[in-house]
Amino acid sequence: MTAEKGLHYPPFCIISRNMPDSEKHDIRPMRLEDIEQILRIEQASFSFPWRMEHFIHEIGAPYSFPFVSVADDSISGYICLKSIFETAEILDIAVAREFRNRGVARSLLLHAEERSRLLGAERVQLEVRVSNKAAVALYEKSGFIRTGIRKRYYEGVEDAILMEKAL
Ligand SMILES: CC(C)(COP(=O)(O)OP(=O)(O)OC[C@H]1O[C@@H](n2cnc3c(N)ncnc32)[C@H](O)[C@@H]1OP(=O)(O)O)[C@@H](O)C(=O)NCCC(=O)NCCS
Repeated sequence: MTAEKGLHYPPFCIISRNMPDSEKHDIRPMRLEDIEQILRIEQASFSFPWRMEHFIHEIGAPYSFPFVSVADDSISGYICLKSIFETAEILDIAVAREFRNRGVARSLLLHAEERSRLLGAERVQLEVRVSNKAAVALYEKSGFIRTGIRKRYYEGVEDAILMEKAL
């Protein structure tokens, strides 16, 4: 069992139908020493990536719960969750290109939802670029519904879709 920000929980192992049998991904809390690998994934995944300070903040902030998935010694993906009282929020999620389409993001989302429930949240919210078809499909398949649009939210140009899932 691992202690982290006041909660105890067992290790979580990802098993997905798209994952080779030889591959095993574990989900655990993000650590400072993960950040170098995370930044490589972040920079390859987003046109406006988070910087190192963002991840350092998430690791230390009392209402933030960042997790990584790990295959062998490599970070395959990560998710940054913020959970305050009844509302949780997904702030960032990405999977390394070589590990995509194997259920890693779905498992990270499920893990974040489970953690939010344990923390007393009643819903999880997020926002996503309208052009990000893969992410919108991931969220819809995971049970999120569209709750609104934030016009020209990204760089004053692109709309954000607001999504929510009841826990
Ligand atoms: C979006 C992202 C996190 C998905 O990660 P992933 O591990 O490949 O996703 P999963 O394998 O768990 O896929 C789960 C579901 O998402 C959907 N999905 C994932 N990638 C998709 C794609 N390229 N096109 C369409 N649907 C996709 C599918 O419905 C899939 O379910 P299925 O395999 O049963 O069809 C990944 O593509 C990524 O890191 N993108 C860059 C970062 C990003 O955009 N993050 C989201 C910010 S809001």
